[in-house]
Amino acid sequence: MLKPSRQEQLLSRLGDLGDLPALPHVISDLVWKLNDPDTGITDVTGPISREPTLAAQVLRMVNSAYYGVRQEVTSLVQAITLLGYRTVQTLVLSAAAQGVFRLRCRSPRYDQETMTLHSIATAAVARHLARTSRKVNPDVAFTAGLLHDIGKLAIDQVAPEHYTTLYDEARENGTSLAEVETSTGSPGHGPAGAQLGDHWRLPADIVDGIGCHHTMDRAENVELAAVMLISDYICRMKSLAAPDNFSEVRLNREAWTALSIPSTQLSPILAAVDEEIAQVNELFAA
Ligand SMILES: [Fe+2]
Ligand SMILES: [Fe+2]
Repeated sequence: MLKPSRQEQLLSRLGDLGDLPALPHVISDLVWKLNDPDTGITDVTGPISREPTLAAQVLRMVNSAYYGVRQEVTSLVQAITLLGYRTVQTLVLSAAAQGVFRLRCRSPRYDQETMTLHSIATAAVARHLARTSRKVNPDVAFTAGLLHDIGKLAIDQVAPEHYTTLYDEARENGTSLAEVETSTGSPGHGPAGAQLGDHWRLPADIVDGIGCHHTMDRAENVELAAVMLISDYICRMKSLAAPDNFSEVRLNREAWTALSIPSTQLSPILAAVDEEIAQVNELFAA
């Protein structure tokens, strides 16, 4: 158990988040605008066009195999018309996440590369499950999946020695970082990620998905939390687990029930997600 003073210290350091880079203002503003259906199209295309790198990234992603758009998309207006605000919001956040995933980690145990592969795979699987179950918005599932473990990065940045301690304990006891957090009364990386998501002014549904990805019982959107839990399970089956998870692979029945996906669907889902994971990896490759 963490001593209360150390726990309070960590909480206040996470609360401060001064050591973490903010999302660029242009991204926060765009994400906000893209969440409002009353936003005019030029209010969105204008700021993206003024950021040539972002504009190019968005167009490259729209034209990738993953989005399966038949005709070539050459303008932002066309992208928004074809895909809608929420998907373009996903693209903008995916572009921003690439910068965040390249952040120099501080704990010697934090494996940024494997964590990024895990996040990308979780995003792909989460979108697939959302579409299969039809109970969750696929874009929300994708973004929440991509950013679900961002709290680990927050902990690494503000308290690297604490991340090292959690990691070592998880490895020694054959358990996961989340389980060590619970057993030691340490602030969880889920809520830490939600705090960072709020700080970045992410939409509330995405923040909820990040915050409750290990605690379905606390989620506002139980189906989204279930998508996160099953995605994690599938990633582990695919050897794409988070690098700090040493626990046994366990199927969470409550999560499957929440999505009303019969267990007979597991094999086809496992077969179907490979292609999508590969496509999302390509999306993030450039
Ligand atoms: Fe997690
Ligand atoms: Fe994870």
